[in-house]
Amino acid sequence: MHPIAYVNGAFVPLSDAKVSILDRGFLFADGIYEVAAVLDGRLVDNASHLARLQRSVGEIALPLPETLERIQEIQKELVARNALDSGLLYLEVTRGADSGRDFVFPKGVTPTLVMFVSAKDIINAPNAKAGIGVITVPDIRWERRDIKSVALLAQVLAKQAAAEAGCGEAWMVEDGVVTEGGSSSAFILTQDDVIVTRNNSNAILPGCTRKAVVALAEERQLKVEERPFSVAEALAAKEAFITSASAFVQPVVTIDGKPVGGGKVGAMATRLREIYIDFARATAV
Ligand code: PDD
Repeated sequence: MHPIAYVNGAFVPLSDAKVSILDRGFLFADGIYEVAAVLDGRLVDNASHLARLQRSVGEIALPLPETLERIQEIQKELVARNALDSGLLYLEVTRGADSGRDFVFPKGVTPTLVMFVSAKDIINAPNAKAGIGVITVPDIRWERRDIKSVALLAQVLAKQAAAEAGCGEAWMVEDGVVTEGGSSSAFILTQDDVIVTRNNSNAILPGCTRKAVVALAEERQLKVEERPFSVAEALAAKEAFITSASAFVQPVVTIDGKPVGGGKVGAMATRLREIYIDFARATAV
């Protein structure tokens, strides 16, 4: 089957899906994106992703070309047209293509809205069983990381460095503390069983998976602290793990080549992963 994409009102073969070279997403990274998981052909925690989309576009005064209700309809139709069972749906909205390259917002230009899907067996990912290594890199990003902007060069460089080191993620560090992963939220479990993840602010993206995992943990009377932690604290922790729409909960077993939690996948990460998968299946739309 040929993959189908969505571009500005039309479902087209992915190979024909194109936007202008004048698109401001291409010229200025003037756009916002979202990635939602698909399980059993349904969208996981999509209301949370759409709420963040609305917030992000609002922060950069970018009007959505469709209502959130219509966007979800398009998402569902795209999943169905691709007969996608398990994977990811990528959505991007940009400030559209003007007639030239002017930094100032164009007038009368319709925003660009594109979507495509990719198949991925998130449930049975080998990394979930074996855990991943992370490297640490300086966080060289801008100061509005709460906006899910398509300006991802710092993350591309961080994740490339991680891949070259044989690792699955890069943890970005600023002022001696971890901000987040290149495309995930960072967690540790302290020796006295407190789940710690950085508090939301302009310094990190408010992860949808992070939010759900914190709520699910608290519902189960697990102790959660939302605060920054250092690499040294992570190395001394009982466990470390990451969360994202594309990985759910994934254990971290080394940081910069040094073992965390004895270098083994931890019980809490494994438990939270199972809890999250149950939640995802039960609430997908
Ligand atoms: N990234 N932090 C950053 C910098 C991210 O890019 C992401 C997600 C997260 C986790 O957010 P969520 O749980 O809502 O996926 C945290 C997506 C998956 C990506 O860029 O592919």
